[in-house]
Amino acid sequence: MTDYSSTPPIRHPAGAPHFHYQDNTLYAEGVRLTDLAHALGTPLYVYSRAALKTAWSAYQQAIKGRKVLVCYGMKANSNLAVLREFAGLGSGFDIVSGGELARVLAAGADPSRVVFSGVGKQVWEMEAALKAGVKCFNVESLPELRRLSGVATAAGKRAAVSLRVNPDVDAQTHPYISTGLKENKFGIAIDQAASAYELAASLPGIEIVGVDCHIGSQITEVSPYLDALDKLLTLIDRLKLRGISLRHLDLGGGIGIRYDDEQPISPSTLLDHIFAQLNARGHGHLELVLEPGRSLVGNAGVLLTTVEYLKHTEARNFAIVDAAMNDLMRPALYEAWHGVLPALVREQAPVVYDVVGPVCESADWLARARDLAINEQDVLVIESAGAYGFVMSGNYNSRGRAAEVMVDGGQYHVVRQRESFEDLIRGESFLP
Ligand code: LLP
Repeated sequence: MTDYSSTPPIRHPAGAPHFHYQDNTLYAEGVRLTDLAHALGTPLYVYSRAALKTAWSAYQQAIKGRKVLVCYGMKANSNLAVLREFAGLGSGFDIVSGGELARVLAAGADPSRVVFSGVGKQVWEMEAALKAGVKCFNVESLPELRRLSGVATAAGKRAAVSLRVNPDVDAQTHPYISTGLKENKFGIAIDQAASAYELAASLPGIEIVGVDCHIGSQITEVSPYLDALDKLLTLIDRLKLRGISLRHLDLGGGIGIRYDDEQPISPSTLLDHIFAQLNARGHGHLELVLEPGRSLVGNAGVLLTTVEYLKHTEARNFAIVDAAMNDLMRPALYEAWHGVLPALVREQAPVVYDVVGPVCESADWLARARDLAINEQDVLVIESAGAYGFVMSGNYNSRGRAAEVMVDGGQYHVVRQRESFEDLIRGESFLP
């Protein structure tokens, strides 16, 4: 027998315990991932229902006895089955488009628990959200405020509004997913916010209900939230002096997850700090709204892919797999790190591979320099792909988007079919 004692131990899967090894085979709950790959093909997004529930329960415990509405930031994963699961658990939703509104309604969610964010709301989207009766619009600019007032007045309504304030704090995260600095396009600058509220108060179609911010994503510290909260509370105090009072305060999403060795904050830790500050500053009566996305779904999903070729070149070894940047864009876009695990552990010496897709771009890589003991046709598991995975996928190189499957105990359910060629060309036509 060869001695493989130098083989690095398999990492603890990021979605543990719902993703776990048993007899050298990786499972999602009670289902072997290799069985899913063989039955449904790859690339395949696999979600664990139990992992979604576990992530939700961390928020549920944190909000117990407190006035908090959790609005799932559905841009992270908007599959209808995921939305229905969260709706059933009592979640509200943070939406950013008319398309997302249609999805939450299709999933049977309660529109009065929906907040509508985004810098570019169009008239039809405002009309649809007013008709549905969303909890509030998170308004990001003065022109948007004026437009919304006009649209609401024309519909004989008043739009409930929070102004999204840009508190100019550093979320200490990747620049592409940091949103609360003054050079970002998001929100109304904190020093302009009081006058923006005065404009809002003067507009006939607007009812002021709250204040909102979202400072970034994959945040692993409490301090950026507390810095933002501090600035928002100072604003609320100033508004009170001007006779404007608010019912809720929305701190957005952003709690990070473990991809590699990050130590993310828990919802309870964050809420303990937030409520301590709210109470200390005499604002304990405010309803708190949160918009978590990644922390509810990120480690509840993986992407399965099959090794097509092992290509050894002078400079590098490549594992060419059947998933690509069109399926999971995060590495190409942000140089994001995702764990890669073999679905089946092999007793052979590992080799250092770059895991790359078949798309004709050098940016088409999923992982770099990983020790992998693999053969062609093996199934690889790209971890932490439940958030900003499928939703950011596309059809570059005329590749149909992957199927999505939800595991529930020992069962699985396809929650989105793999796209066919007919799906790809739907809506296209030849010249007459
Ligand atoms: N609320 C607002 C207004 C947002 O813009 C976002 C995310 C969220 C809530 C949810 O944030 P989360 O809890 O997921 O951090 N595609 C990037 C992430 C972009 C986040 C955009 N906004 C990625 O793959 O890392």
